[in-house]
Amino acid sequence: MPADVMLLRSEFLGLNETVPIKDGRRVVYVNFDNAATTPPLKAVVAAVNAFLPWYSSVHRGFGYKSQLSTGVYNRARDYITRFFGADPGKDLVVFVKNATEALNKLSYRLKTRQNQVILASRMEHHSNDLPWRLKRKTLFAELPPDGRLDLADLENKLRNNRVALVTLCGASNVTGVINPLRTIAEMTHYYGAAFLVDAAQLVPHRPLRLRSGEAPDFIAFSGHKLYAPFGSGVLLGPAKVFAEGIPELTGGGTVAAVSKTRILFAPPPEREEAGTPNLIGAFALAKALQWLQEHDFPALATYEENLTKYAYNRLATVPGIRLYGPPPFITPRVGVIAFNLEGIPHSLVAAALAYEAGIGVRHGCFCARPYVHHLLRLSPAEIAAYEERIAAGKKQDLPGMVRVSFGFYNTREEVDRLIAALFFLRDEEVKIKKSYRLNPVTGEYLPPGGDYQVRLDRHRESFFL
Ligand SMILES: Cc1ncc(COP(=O)(O)O)c(C=O)c1O
Repeated sequence: MPADVMLLRSEFLGLNETVPIKDGRRVVYVNFDNAATTPPLKAVVAAVNAFLPWYSSVHRGFGYKSQLSTGVYNRARDYITRFFGADPGKDLVVFVKNATEALNKLSYRLKTRQNQVILASRMEHHSNDLPWRLKRKTLFAELPPDGRLDLADLENKLRNNRVALVTLCGASNVTGVINPLRTIAEMTHYYGAAFLVDAAQLVPHRPLRLRSGEAPDFIAFSGHKLYAPFGSGVLLGPAKVFAEGIPELTGGGTVAAVSKTRILFAPPPEREEAGTPNLIGAFALAKALQWLQEHDFPALATYEENLTKYAYNRLATVPGIRLYGPPPFITPRVGVIAFNLEGIPHSLVAAALAYEAGIGVRHGCFCARPYVHHLLRLSPAEIAAYEERIAAGKKQDLPGMVRVSFGFYNTREEVDRLIAALFFLRDEEVKIKKSYRLNPVTGEYLPPGGDYQVRLDRHRESFFL
């Protein structure tokens, strides 16, 4: 491993932990599930630990610690606003608990005129689909078979409808495809709509800027996918959107005055952040962004891009593999690759990677079912049939994929371990299929014998001693 990669790895917490595998041995864990959650940065943990002795109430008290805590909270907001090239005079960071809450918040708070619609796409995570489709008339831009966004269809829908907001992922959590945000922003603004980027998968991988950059009006993202695991997220967008109306959550912190007969809401951001805010989460998130800024973010992005291309090429050599989405050499992608191995259920592939090789991946539909249906080319009848099985409580043999997703600390050596494990699975396919047992309750496969579960339970309990 090159010295600079080793140096980079030393910035992250927990990369050398060993985990048990099926045969009783322990191996260093490989985390290829960064699209779900990333490990913490040591700099973030150290900053949080340094601040904790000073931790106190935000906006509530007037002692030194309380004033300091309020200052740190506001400074985090200011740092994040500037990091994304937003205008502190016009744009506002609203702290929430994750991207899902940010997207829900805007779906409640965005004012639209009669007959106006929301325009999303078929490649969205459920968090950027359900909040819209459950509250507002929502249209969806279609996709060609390879899973890119159909820009012509997007423009057609913009031209032929009164669209208030275009809301799209910056990068897909299934294929890693990066949408051409600058072009879409121009198109969206030309038709008079606002543009929201669900940046949950983009912010951790690529620099993104409002206003003079890619120019979305709103972005939403989570800290836990960005090496800052303290339960915070951000909705960033024009402050005027939050200046009026009743927020979806009300109570302490949201009001300037309350009497028996009158409620006067506070100006944003207070109006939007009901209850005691997550100061540590906000601080940690800002510190993670600061780390990116101080560690040549564009160079880190290039490193990940090369790792993704390397992994894609190596995966393509595995017999019977099907890789989804356009190749990263053709379409820009963040480090997310979804695949299937012909003849082996995705749940068994994920189980074999965990129990035979200590590699953590995710399998299933990744909270983006319409997109996965599209990529798997499922017919409406096939979708209806499997939804019936789910409704009946059956969890086995459901459609899905295996997903590997990278952080800046992952290495080619780890990719090589994945490839070796997949070749091993292919070679030992018959034996593994015979010996692994399907748990019908969870739909997951378990390895034969061994004390894996016992060790897992003991480890869990050790944190509660
Ligand atoms: C593209 C995308 N949007 C939204 C979300 C929701 O993020 P969170 O679970 O942190 O709210 C995810 C999570 O995987 C995602 O990948």
